[in-house]
Amino acid sequence: MSTIELTKTGIEGLDDILNGGIVKNSTTLISGNPGAGKSILGLQYIYNGVELFDEKGIYLTFEENAADLREAAESIGFENWQQYVEDGQINVYDKQVLLRENDFGAALDILLEDLDNEEYERLVLDSLTMFQLFFESEREKRTYLLKFTDILSENNLTTLMTNEQGTVFPGTDIGLENFLTDGNIYLLQTPTDSGVNRYVWVAKMRKQNIDSDIFPMEITQGGLTVHKNASAFSMMGEDESPL
Ligand SMILES: Nc1ncnc2c1ncn2[C@@H]1O[C@H](COP(=O)(O)OP(=O)(O)OP(=O)(O)O)[C@@H](O)[C@H]1O
Ligand SMILES: [Mg+2]
Repeated sequence: MSTIELTKTGIEGLDDILNGGIVKNSTTLISGNPGAGKSILGLQYIYNGVELFDEKGIYLTFEENAADLREAAESIGFENWQQYVEDGQINVYDKQVLLRENDFGAALDILLEDLDNEEYERLVLDSLTMFQLFFESEREKRTYLLKFTDILSENNLTTLMTNEQGTVFPGTDIGLENFLTDGNIYLLQTPTDSGVNRYVWVAKMRKQNIDSDIFPMEITQGGLTVHKNASAFSMMGEDESPL
């Protein structure tokens, strides 16, 4: 038996292809094009933490304010989102909080204080792309990113960071972010006549022997579902066709 502790995403099919979950206290990058499902995955990871595993979470978003985030969560079917926020089981740092001082150091101080007062297991940063725009120099960016990831691991947080990807497959240039993360998950989408086919690819997961296949996934009411075998996926959509 492995002694590696895992944090379950609670997302149907995803924990299976991750061999049980994400390595605890690690940072995983979730990359994909706009609309690929990165934010929904992040919301679902934090929401499931509370709903299924009684684990508190922190959601940092540069993309939205707390009201938009609530709306996004509720519209996908995470109906207790706001209740968990009010209970303090989900702690949202929205763009108003993060951008208030125009100084990420100030936001880090608030985060440190919260981490001192409360035990959190999960954190989502949406998005790393926006986070990086904060800083003027490469050096400053690295300094803060390293400081931030240190805080995460010192506090035993299992983290997902979303990352906007311009192309469907990663290019050959290895960005800063690839050095800083333990895991890499890509969300892919291809257009079809009737909509879009979605896929998930776990490209890297530290300490885990991962099946590197690409698996089909869906986004529906209730969030993401990953299909472990492709044949189930090819059946999908057939139910929708008229009699
Ligand atoms: N209830 C739903 N049923 C089916 N699909 C949905 C539903 N709600 C949202 N979607 C789909 O989910 C996708 C949005 O995902 P999400 O916002 O997580 O993308 P993202 O990767 O974060 O994009 P961005 O880079 O623009 O932030 C859209 O393609 C949308 O069509
Ligand atoms: Mg998003």
